Amino acid sequence: MKVLGIESSCDETGVAVYDTEAGLLAHCLHSQIDLHAAYGGVVPELASRDHIRRLPVLLKQALAAAGLEARDLDAVAYTAGPGLAGALLVGASVAESFALARGIPALPVHHLEGHLLSPLLSADPPRFPFVALLVSGGHTQLMRVRGVGDYALLGESVDDAAGEAFDKTAKLLGLGYPGGPQLAQLAARGVAGRFRLPRPMLHSGDLDFSFSGLKTAVLNVVSGSDWEPARMADLAAEFQQAVVEVLCAKALAALKKTGLRTLVVAGGVGANLHLRAVLDAALQKRGGRVHYPEPALCTDNGAMIAFAGAMRLAAGDEAGGEPAVRIRPRWPLAELRPPQRATA
Ligand code: KG4
Ligand code: ZN
Repeated sequence: MKVLGIESSCDETGVAVYDTEAGLLAHCLHSQIDLHAAYGGVVPELASRDHIRRLPVLLKQALAAAGLEARDLDAVAYTAGPGLAGALLVGASVAESFALARGIPALPVHHLEGHLLSPLLSADPPRFPFVALLVSGGHTQLMRVRGVGDYALLGESVDDAAGEAFDKTAKLLGLGYPGGPQLAQLAARGVAGRFRLPRPMLHSGDLDFSFSGLKTAVLNVVSGSDWEPARMADLAAEFQQAVVEVLCAKALAALKKTGLRTLVVAGGVGANLHLRAVLDAALQKRGGRVHYPEPALCTDNGAMIAFAGAMRLAAGDEAGGEPAVRIRPRWPLAELRPPQRATA
């Protein structure tokens, strides 16, 4: 089964083709970083408009790279949420209309399920069950994963997500958007421990996180009278260390609680090299193993959506039916009824 995957939930447009027999056939991506950089963050309306511009081009590119025609596809999977409403609507409209025109099913996919399953696309995939640490721009969650769609939430951030904390802290340090990778680069030149930032909720006894206080703690340092901008790399390193320490401690606690030994890390912050080094060392010490997506599939992409859709369809998930983006080309006016309040 050949599944087209469409991702447009935020600031990346991704189109990919996954074949349940031959694997990933093509994966094309357009990042909107340049478009939003001048504004210091994602401008939702600009994101939607750019998705409209890019999707048809990427669709052609992906099919050409896969050596396929539109008629060779068996289904379309698209990100239906969570994400920016307008951006999602663009992907959903393109996917549903493509599927309708070709007479093939369209399957709405959860963006985080895409991230969570993306390490299964690697050459040495993890086996179920495992604990997943989802660390993206909008979410920080620990999940027990027994199989596709069998997810139990173990803990999550009560305020900012890890990626959001990276982005906001980068912004207040005067770094550009997207902040996470830039802050990580700066941190690599500094030394953690020269400043002392809190490790929020490290000893809370549960598997929840809180990162918004960390950003405030950084703000307090840089607005202090003895702040020297020359020490910014050390502050960045300490910030990164604080986030990584908490993520690592809670991930280990989640493994202990579930009795599992396999950890899967997914989402944009999973690209952080320091996080990877600390998690790898910790799991190695305990006889466990950490799995990550291929580097190119860490941030948003169409491959993970095509893959998640293909896994679901191959397992018998129903797709198709009424298009999710509802319009009625033929709609007799006489069919309308007066507005009615729902009765209790
Ligand atoms: O998964 P993703 O691409 O999009 C969402 O679904 O949110 O994650 C984006 C987030 C951003 O907050 C970005 O700053 C962060 O991942 N990020 C990083 C790194 N690369 C991306 N954070 C820390 N270190 C990195 N190397
Ligand atoms: Zn994402």
